[in-house]
Amino acid sequence: MSGAITPEEAVAFDRLPGGRRDDVILDVRDLVVEHRNRSTGEMFRAVDEVNLTIRAGESVAIVGESGSGKTTLAMAATGLGHHTSGEIRLIGRVLSSLGKREMRALRPEVQVVFQDPHGSLDPRQTVRSGFSELRSLQPQRTGWTDDIGLLERVRLGPEMLTRYPHQLSGGQAQRVCIARALLMRPSLIVADEPTSGLDVSVQADVLALLATVRAETGAALLMVSHDLAVVRSVCERVHVMYKGRVVESGPSETVFTQPTDDYTRQLLAAMPGARWRSRR
Ligand SMILES: Nc1ncnc2c1ncn2[C@@H]1O[C@H](COP(=O)(O)OP(=O)(O)OP(=O)(O)O)[C@@H](O)[C@H]1O
Ligand SMILES: [Mg+2]
Repeated sequence: MSGAITPEEAVAFDRLPGGRRDDVILDVRDLVVEHRNRSTGEMFRAVDEVNLTIRAGESVAIVGESGSGKTTLAMAATGLGHHTSGEIRLIGRVLSSLGKREMRALRPEVQVVFQDPHGSLDPRQTVRSGFSELRSLQPQRTGWTDDIGLLERVRLGPEMLTRYPHQLSGGQAQRVCIARALLMRPSLIVADEPTSGLDVSVQADVLALLATVRAETGAALLMVSHDLAVVRSVCERVHVMYKGRVVESGPSETVFTQPTDDYTRQLLAAMPGARWRSRR
């Protein structure tokens, strides 16, 4: 395949996911992302001078209201979306300094789990042929050669291998998406509202699964959510975004029980039952 990575390049990036706890996986400095306003045509900052650091195996959340820039930040910070200025280091490499080949070799380090699992899967491919295709795209990277073992990781049975996406429930499809992410042995899994498209009855299971695979594989997790209850149960640190800026960040427990920013307080007060306040 043209542009396939060489064994040397593969070895250079072939580190165990996770690594030491103090290894910095992602380091983002002064990130600015501008979008063009669809109605006025003017440029605006969807992400405005944001700093973000994620260490090996850490779980970090970005929370904030709709339109605050969470998805834009997550995509730009991981090199999957454009950025206007700022520096992004992924596994110690400055993204803007990398050529196409190096980017390609680095790409599997970050895997994204999207909101709509069915939208992420090819309707013409069985689960097994989807796994095979991923392996052929990154032959040096893939950690699991055993499809059944991979499905076990996401608590699915072997009978899922021959299914097409339309034969999977939303929860099963999202588990398949998580398995596909794990196949690449990523250092960082980005999950953008990973359960908001799912039936309420399976949301908690899928979140618990994400927390478990993080612990089992040592991958770090960057979770985008507007659901603070979810974040509190899964993430160690949280960044609160408002109008493109991070207005507050810190350990989840601290941010939720002793918020210092007015916007964070409003966000918490808007939570159903406002149960955070009673936890002081
Ligand atoms: N490709 C784009 N072109 C123009 N504007 C965009 C684009 N993507 C996002 N925006 C705008 O940038 C801002 C931030 O959007 P973003 O999708 O990052 O928010 P979000 O916090 O993820 O929201 P949600 O919770 O609804 O997913 C919004 O005003 C949005 O309308
Ligand atoms: Mg979003």
